[in-house]
Amino acid sequence: MKNFIDIQEISLSQLRNILEDSACLKNFRTKLLKGELDTEPALSGRIVALLFKKPSTRTRFSFDVGITQMGGKSISISSNEMQLSNAEQMTDTAQVLSQYVDMIVLRTDNHHDLLDLTENSAVPVINGLSNFSHPCQVLADIFTFEELVGSIKGKKVVWLGDGNNVCNSYLQAAEKFDFEFVYSGPKAFGPDNVKGSLHYGYEKDPENAVDSADLLVTDTWFSMHQTEMERSKRATLMEDYCITEGLLRSTKSECLVFHCMPIYRDKEISTQVVERFFKVFLSQAENRLHVQKSIMKWCFS
Ligand code: CP
Ligand code: NVA
Repeated sequence: MKNFIDIQEISLSQLRNILEDSACLKNFRTKLLKGELDTEPALSGRIVALLFKKPSTRTRFSFDVGITQMGGKSISISSNEMQLSNAEQMTDTAQVLSQYVDMIVLRTDNHHDLLDLTENSAVPVINGLSNFSHPCQVLADIFTFEELVGSIKGKKVVWLGDGNNVCNSYLQAAEKFDFEFVYSGPKAFGPDNVKGSLHYGYEKDPENAVDSADLLVTDTWFSMHQTEMERSKRATLMEDYCITEGLLRSTKSECLVFHCMPIYRDKEISTQVVERFFKVFLSQAENRLHVQKSIMKWCFS
């Protein structure tokens, strides 16, 4: 039994196995209807709890659909419908849920919830996003990049805007998959835990940052766990880091743009750039399904 909490805790060979298996799972689905079972339903007889303390479209649907395709059953519930909202401890919740279900996926605004859950759960736990990280998104992004371009090893990935949870997982992925990761945004909003990273760079000027990049990545300037006061401070500081057609003129012509969605047009990315890369964003979202199915299989391996 394994937990999938952060990319840094998993070896490169295991991450590579997950990605290879994701490609097989995706390939097998080409002739099947969305609700049809996989040819080898790996979650047959299993129940998975999807516990969401924050809103979600992609994560919630992709896990739910993936579990169905793998022959399992999901119970999807928002934490405000649970006694967690009446201050029941996560440690108690973990022990109780472990008796009912075979796996727990948690989205939370407090990364410590995930640590409490894994320490007290007898079943595998998957991080469906926390204030600190979003490993499912980033592993699916690596899969998408390699599907569209080829190996990410040695490539230059530039993150623009807020160095948030998704950005933190990119930094961890850079260490594992051996790519250069540059953050361009207000220095105070850069990713956590950059000390000692051999793959990290900071560049204040966005035009310099994107020079020779293979991939630009951005995300909302305001994550779900941030307060209104934090949000108002951020907007003006981030303005220079919007991905526009103008900024793309400073990149290689084949440079890709990623956005994990939801998108806030003409904030972190211009409407024109969204139009140009929307198909890519849809591939990122689709691949969440295949990669998460493989992550669930790996957790039980
Ligand atoms: N990208 C992502 O995790 O989207 P949701 O918030 O809709 O799950
Ligand atoms: N980073 C943003 C979006 C993630 C899907 C957030 O945490 O709200």
